[in-house]
Amino acid sequence: MLSGEITMGCTVVVGAFWGDEGKGKIISYLAVRDKTDVCVRTGSVNAAHTVILKDKKYALHMVPSAFVYEKSRLLIGAGVNIHVPQLLKEIEETGVKNRIGIDPQCSIIEEKHSAMDKSSAHLKGLGTTGWGVGPAQEERVRRTGKIARDVPELQQYLTDVASEANTAIADDKNVLLEGTQGLMLSLFFGTYPYVTSRDTSASAVCAEAGVGPTKVDSVLLVFKSFMTRVGSGPLPDECSKEEAVSLGWFEIAAGTGRERRSAPFNFDLAKRAAMINGATEAAVTKLDVLFPECKRSTSFEQLSSAAKEFIAKIETITGVPVTIIGTGPAVFDVIDCRKLRV
Ligand code: IMP
Ligand code: MG
Repeated sequence: MLSGEITMGCTVVVGAFWGDEGKGKIISYLAVRDKTDVCVRTGSVNAAHTVILKDKKYALHMVPSAFVYEKSRLLIGAGVNIHVPQLLKEIEETGVKNRIGIDPQCSIIEEKHSAMDKSSAHLKGLGTTGWGVGPAQEERVRRTGKIARDVPELQQYLTDVASEANTAIADDKNVLLEGTQGLMLSLFFGTYPYVTSRDTSASAVCAEAGVGPTKVDSVLLVFKSFMTRVGSGPLPDECSKEEAVSLGWFEIAAGTGRERRSAPFNFDLAKRAAMINGATEAAVTKLDVLFPECKRSTSFEQLSSAAKEFIAKIETITGVPVTIIGTGPAVFDVIDCRKLRV
């Protein structure tokens, strides 16, 4: 294997394909394992990050996935579009009222945005999630949108997120910047026009959080062992639903309840995602779905040779070390191949 180290400092976590790679699970693992001091969520409510903790399943649309580590400060970056009722509901559910902070410049998604998202024939054709993120982004660009500082219910949470994140980095704290979706849904690098309404690459995640590129120590690119996509647009080597079911790849979206389409892992796309994100390390989730004998393994040595070859091929083609491997749904169903930095 290529060698990776445990990175302290600032790590950006991004998805490689069409989202749903398992970023929520990876971030929740890192938060508990590395005692993440600060986690900044980017993107918007269209993403659902699944975290399974003590048999309870959370599908988080707004609250950062690091909430599972109770000392983690949770922040929502200025580039985020906030859906106020969903955010307030999740703050309640996760009990993070006293440790969440929201940037005053976050955009607000209003009811009208969601109505536009659901009624527009064009957006329906793209198969959007219907949350209203695209129309809210349009309004932000027109500079007529509401921002968090205008919303009474958010006043108690307002904080300068960029300052908090940069101060934490300067103080050598452990900081995670949580990306959403995946590179193939990027407004600029994805399968346009079948994409989301923002760039999803690591650079954009930094920009949304207010952290400059020189402050980042590591970019962790999350792959799933096979690919899935919800909504319309190309998916190379797409399987039929029957095939997906028989392979164990058939998934239902955590956020919208929609059926996901699926396809085998694509090494060319993986290589491109590594390049554009400037990945320094990679995570591979759901290895147990491809190689059932690996279920809940916690050491690399336990893996079958076929599974090891699959990981090695990802490393060879992308040039990026695979440092974290997911072998089951729970937070600690993980093989952590990082070495402690001395
Ligand atoms: P929108 O982001 O709701 O505008 O949807 C645009 C496209 O991105 C659609 O194909 C959605 O299914 C997809 N999409 C948006 N967010 C996610 C996500 O978190 N996971 C997977 N697909 C997503
Ligand atoms: Mg998801």
